[in-house]
Amino acid sequence: MAKKLAVIGAGLMGSGIAQVSAQAGWDVVLRDVTDAALTRGTDGIKASFDKFVGKGKLAAEDAEAALGRITTSTELDAAADADVVVEAVFEKIEVKREIFAALDKVVKDETILASNTSAIPITKIAAATARPERVVGTHFFSPVPMMALCELVRGHLTSDETLATARGFAESVGKTCIVVNRDVAGFVTTRLISALVVEAAKLQESGVASAEDIDTACKLGFGHAMGPLATADLTGVDILLHASDNIHTESQDGKFAPPESMRRMVDAGDIGRKSGRGYYTY
Ligand SMILES: NC(=O)c1ccc[n+]([C@@H]2O[C@H](COP(=O)([O-])OP(=O)(O)OC[C@H]3O[C@@H](n4cnc5c(N)ncnc54)[C@H](O)[C@@H]3O)[C@@H](O)[C@H]2O)c1
Repeated sequence: MAKKLAVIGAGLMGSGIAQVSAQAGWDVVLRDVTDAALTRGTDGIKASFDKFVGKGKLAAEDAEAALGRITTSTELDAAADADVVVEAVFEKIEVKREIFAALDKVVKDETILASNTSAIPITKIAAATARPERVVGTHFFSPVPMMALCELVRGHLTSDETLATARGFAESVGKTCIVVNRDVAGFVTTRLISALVVEAAKLQESGVASAEDIDTACKLGFGHAMGPLATADLTGVDILLHASDNIHTESQDGKFAPPESMRRMVDAGDIGRKSGRGYYTY
């Protein structure tokens, strides 16, 4: 029997998670606060399936069947019979805690509640429920249908069974998992990229090497697809500054302290591709 998944939030990540899960055979209910948000989400899923079908990577009837497995709702009660719930709403702790507290009362006792948060401690979200041992992080990457990684995050009280269920879910939708055994700020992936970007920004600031040369070193020396400063421009210098500040505050580890030049770039609005200028000009 197909398992049932509820996805809370039909934005970029929630719709991607719903898409890969329906394609893998899960019955999915997608929940958002407005019909307009749900329509945007399902239109995005249809457009993505159309692209895969157009490229010959997915049979039209399989796309049709997957779409048929997705229902939508503006009611949280729609998650009542889900085996797994994945939350992918705005990155605001109060919003997430409110949703988890409400979900805790609606879903079955054995249901696991997962968050796609990229930075909020899972333990803080879990503490809003009476089932912290059944709360876990499932950090997918964007675009979800293309990116193979899912970072599984154990909160302070997450049980082995919950972690195993989350792994089973993520693997069933085609992802490879890594496990973050302690609920640290930035988990593993954001800590790694922050450390690299901060060091690259310091080398650039102090004139040790140019942005181009630092990025070339990572691409040709380590085989990275993209250098750290080009990555900062793509992600947003402001986003990486905020992430690094947060990890620095939580860990008190100086290697995550962003250099002042990065702060001044953000003050000036030079935040990367989205503003036309960052470490490079676009
Ligand atoms: N965008 C990325 O690259 C990325 C990558 C990894 C993780 N994340 C994380 O995933 C989460 C979602 O990010 P996103 O980029 O998809 O955001 P988004 O802004 O595209 O979508 C958020 C959706 O949540 C909905 N929402 C808000 N409150 C809700 C509620 N109470 N109930 C149901 N739906 C509600 C909004 O209407 C919106 O459709 C965030 O925690 C983010 O940090 C994002």
